[in-house]
Amino acid sequence: MRIAVIPGDGIGPEVIAETIPVLEWARGQGRQMDWLVFPHGADHFLNTGETLSNRTFMHLRDDYDAILFGAVGDPRIPDGRHAEDILLRLRKDLLLRVNYRPCSPMLDVHVPLKGVSAAEIHLEVFRENTEGPYCLKGESSGQTAMDFAIHTQSAVSCLLRAAFQQAEKHNAPLTLAHKANVLKHGHGLWMRVFRELQPEFQTVQSNAMHADALLCALVQRPGDFGVIAADNFIGDLISDLLAAFQGGMGLAASSNLAIAGDPAFKGRPFRCTGLFEPVHGSAPDIAGKGIANPAGAILSVALMFRHQGWEETAKTVETSVAQALKEGAATRDLGGRLNTKKMGQALRAGLH
Ligand code: NAD
Ligand code: IPM
Ligand code: MN
Repeated sequence: MRIAVIPGDGIGPEVIAETIPVLEWARGQGRQMDWLVFPHGADHFLNTGETLSNRTFMHLRDDYDAILFGAVGDPRIPDGRHAEDILLRLRKDLLLRVNYRPCSPMLDVHVPLKGVSAAEIHLEVFRENTEGPYCLKGESSGQTAMDFAIHTQSAVSCLLRAAFQQAEKHNAPLTLAHKANVLKHGHGLWMRVFRELQPEFQTVQSNAMHADALLCALVQRPGDFGVIAADNFIGDLISDLLAAFQGGMGLAASSNLAIAGDPAFKGRPFRCTGLFEPVHGSAPDIAGKGIANPAGAILSVALMFRHQGWEETAKTVETSVAQALKEGAATRDLGGRLNTKKMGQALRAGLH
């Protein structure tokens, strides 16, 4: 496996530094891989004017199997142009339709919901990752501003089919989060595709819910839900709620995945089929202090190993993280005192 590592901005490089020994360990276990670190992010843009050139994009697409990503976002670039050109472009142009964001809290004390234990919560977000309001240029006269959202049958089908398949595999309920009551065209299309797929997945208990009501129900009875499918925007919001269920932004992991049968590949899939990143951003409020929690980044490496088919290696990483947390390893966001480096060491202690 060839991995392109893009640490990015803020705490991105701090948490990604703690993932490199995980790659080295896995290689020591006989997993064949190499990686190269790319400088793309705010500093690189401010120094060179390059966000992500077409040449680099094609290099990542054709010469790497996976991208390990930190975070992008920098107060010196308030319009977030480089984030759009790097992260959003990679998701969109690599056709990484699914943003997969699992939520299985590891410890009861991490769950902020009254009377709910970690064992009751097994949620998985399938967020559409290439469309919605993220991908079209809006406009503004200053007084009036417009953003536009696009939803295509082909992207929505890819996402929903993947979500149905996961629900089937895990024997979990599937809920589509939507606002078709107001977004009649876009979310109307989601509803139609959802209804069309339901008969194909008769063993899956599937339901569509208004996203606002779903958020309320998720907080009140998270154990009733399993796989949650949503468009790009609603999926983004649900992701951070579920990060809170797991103990906060520092713990949540995610992958961005290509779908093998995606018609947009026209039968010729790209080499790069996944981008793996913690759910959190660059956290400018704590960047440079060495206190960020690297768990979300390390758990994203586990998702990358799993995607590569290295299930046992992925499990060992997850078990090591879970064991360290259980033994009380904690950065400040978890109420502890460990800095990023010590936390990284503790989370990796079970890698033998
Ligand atoms: P954020 O996720 O960066 O931070 C939200 C809060 O969580 C902050 O208080 C932060 O300190 C805390 N936090 C986040 N990660 C943490 C960690 N690993 N350990 C401990 N605490 C952690 O979200 P934001 O503040 O809304 O955004 C900051 C910047 O990051 C913005 O520019 C935003 O656009 C960008 N962003 C990028 C990504 C990404 O690259 N995937 C994701 C989200 C936000
Ligand atoms: C995320 C982030 C990004 C998103 C931003 C930084 C563009 O919030 O990965 O969840 O909204 O997708
Ligand atoms: Mn987000």
